Amino acid sequence: MAEVLVTTEVFPEALARLREAGHRVRAPSEGRLSRAELLDQIATADALVCLLSDRVDEELFSAAPRLKVVANLGVGVDNIDLSAATRHGVVVTNTPDVLTETTADLAWALLMAAARRIVEADSDLRAHGFPGWTFIPPHMGVDVWGRTLGVVGLGRIGSAVARRARGFEMRVLYHSRTRKPALEAALSARWLPLDELLSESDFVVLCVPLTPETRHLIGPRELSLMKEEAILVNIARGPVVDEAALALALKEGRLRAAALDVFEREPEVHPELIPLRNVVLTPHIGSATLSTRRKMAELAVESVISVLSGRRPENLVNPEAWR
Ligand code: NAP
Ligand code: GLV
Repeated sequence: MAEVLVTTEVFPEALARLREAGHRVRAPSEGRLSRAELLDQIATADALVCLLSDRVDEELFSAAPRLKVVANLGVGVDNIDLSAATRHGVVVTNTPDVLTETTADLAWALLMAAARRIVEADSDLRAHGFPGWTFIPPHMGVDVWGRTLGVVGLGRIGSAVARRARGFEMRVLYHSRTRKPALEAALSARWLPLDELLSESDFVVLCVPLTPETRHLIGPRELSLMKEEAILVNIARGPVVDEAALALALKEGRLRAAALDVFEREPEVHPELIPLRNVVLTPHIGSATLSTRRKMAELAVESVISVLSGRRPENLVNPEAWR
């Protein structure tokens, strides 16, 4: 009987599916395992279902002599040392596709909230009441319709973000390392080098994975290229943006606003961002709808069952570890 260690509370049906497949399951009944608990409990595990906030590194693999598969509950795998996984012969899987549309919805919710100052307006109304309709209100926003959207990383989520822009009759620009002719045609999107995209866009949405190449992709120089009236949305990973530089640009009015679902040192949020009214902050909830989280759990569990029964899993991240 193989042992599956799950680092977080998860839907009971996901755990039931693992048990039905004949596996022993260890999972906290609430909350999540600490690093120390994870390192302790991994010793006897054949499979690990983990969160993108769990660091899965050499130290963990060295403590896990039986481990065959790590199923990450998320599409981004920057929390996992993939070379170490492959060296230890451990297969890594993730949960792409099922969360694409949900995350694109959140990118748009953030974009709209920042453009129309929804959070500021809501909290002012609660704190001070509705002073009555005024022609020049304190929460004057900017239009979204007909303006220019720049998507950085035109992958699954980036494409879904760009597709939604059609309803707003926007001009769509994108930047990726490779041109995507089929998507360009389907989305009426135009590729530009990053610097040009930043200087031409009214809204920039970051949809790249976190890699050594994308760490601080948006730093002081890139922020200085953006229009003063522009809005930056980050649903990718926090370290893609130099948070201190962003806070300064927002404070000095060199950028109209930002909306962030992800942070450089999660769960910490840069203290300079907190008092700023021109930034919308959400606690990494891109894929957080019940139906999507159910699909993510299902996918992760099916990946574990596949690997433990000798079948190649659907969402193999390090195919070189599969033999
Ligand atoms: P994906 O389909 O792999 O798309 C990523 C895109 O980024 C690709 O089109 C890739 O194209 C481009 N890219 C990679 N490196 C680049 C670089 N250096 N410069 C410019 N473009 C680059 O991944 P996805 O499913 O859309 O997910 C993207 C990321 O979103 C995930 O890795 C995760 O970090 C994040 N995410 C966040 C949430 C949330 O809750 N906020 C939810 C889901 C995902 P090229 O290879 O052609 O460059
Ligand atoms: C969420 O951030 C994910 O990568 O799925």
